[in-house]
Amino acid sequence: TWTMVNIVEDAIERIRRQIGDKRAICGLSGGVDSAVAAALVQRAIGDRLTCVFVDHGLLRAGEAEQVERDFVASTGVQLKVVDAAERFLVALKGVTDPEQKRKIIGREFIRVFEEAAREIVAEAGTHGEQVEFLVQGTLYPDVVESGGGTGAANIKSHHNVGGLPEDLRFELVEPLRRLFKDEVRKVGEQLGLPPQIVWRHPFPGPGLAIRIVGEVTRERLEVLRAADAIARHELTEAGLDREIWQCPVVLLADVRSVGVQGDGRTYGHPIVLRPVTSEDAMTADWSRLPYEVLARISTRITNEVPEVNRVVLDITSKPPGTIEWE
Ligand code: XMP
Repeated sequence: TWTMVNIVEDAIERIRRQIGDKRAICGLSGGVDSAVAAALVQRAIGDRLTCVFVDHGLLRAGEAEQVERDFVASTGVQLKVVDAAERFLVALKGVTDPEQKRKIIGREFIRVFEEAAREIVAEAGTHGEQVEFLVQGTLYPDVVESGGGTGAANIKSHHNVGGLPEDLRFELVEPLRRLFKDEVRKVGEQLGLPPQIVWRHPFPGPGLAIRIVGEVTRERLEVLRAADAIARHELTEAGLDREIWQCPVVLLADVRSVGVQGDGRTYGHPIVLRPVTSEDAMTADWSRLPYEVLARISTRITNEVPEVNRVVLDITSKPPGTIEWE
């Protein structure tokens, strides 16, 4: 029988055959696909893999640490972290249009990744070694969606580095090309990756930038991060993570409403909870979360995040609403 152990060993064997004695790099996003792909390649070629994590400063609380600490601890992978938060904030200054935000983040991401890749290639070169491979966490549904070719790289444009310049032409290594998401999670568990990584809900590449309706600023990111951490914690505590597909938490940064907190009148911002159930994100329904859980999230956010004085629930299915607000 074709067990998970077989699948993992077969994948490792294929990777060894493809890469030979060359070196590879892999961009980590914090998500399960790139993490599992990297972990497989690490098993296959060890230190000849270098991972790059571009921290764009738009991740949720604890996620950068999860990559820097937990992923490295569980795999022993060589990791180059680039802290580019400041650069992304500067590039996003004054921008409110969602597609503009995506474009800017995609562009900056590629630039930062290229710089890191160039350094790794040059460093290996000084030891007479060649970096010829780029690892990507492309899944079977991505392959199908793009017509089965190798063009899968362009679906999630900024994680899958498509248009790299001439001097950074890599051959792709895509160890997850035959797998569905649930199988990828099983492989991840088999490889000993921590549950927070293996069971992470989908999270958009542009991160919290498209969950702040309005301009992205450091202060607004902090407010959203705090509210999001509370919502995620309570959903996890209530054992609801496997029931929902994802739960975007959105800050309506340009909207204010009057409230009363403690002794005084406030004029704060609303937070939107967007819990959805879905099979594949193409369609979705709003999750009928238990009222007690919603109440706890609302009370905690308004008590603990002073800038927020109202928590609202999005009860729109997709279509007509998309899962994300931007
Ligand atoms: P929508 O909002 O279109 O989202 O219903 C469908 C799924 O895709 C995710 N999403 C993105 N993922 N880059 C990504 O990598 C993006 O720009 C992006 N926009 C949406 C969203 O979280 C949901 O899972």
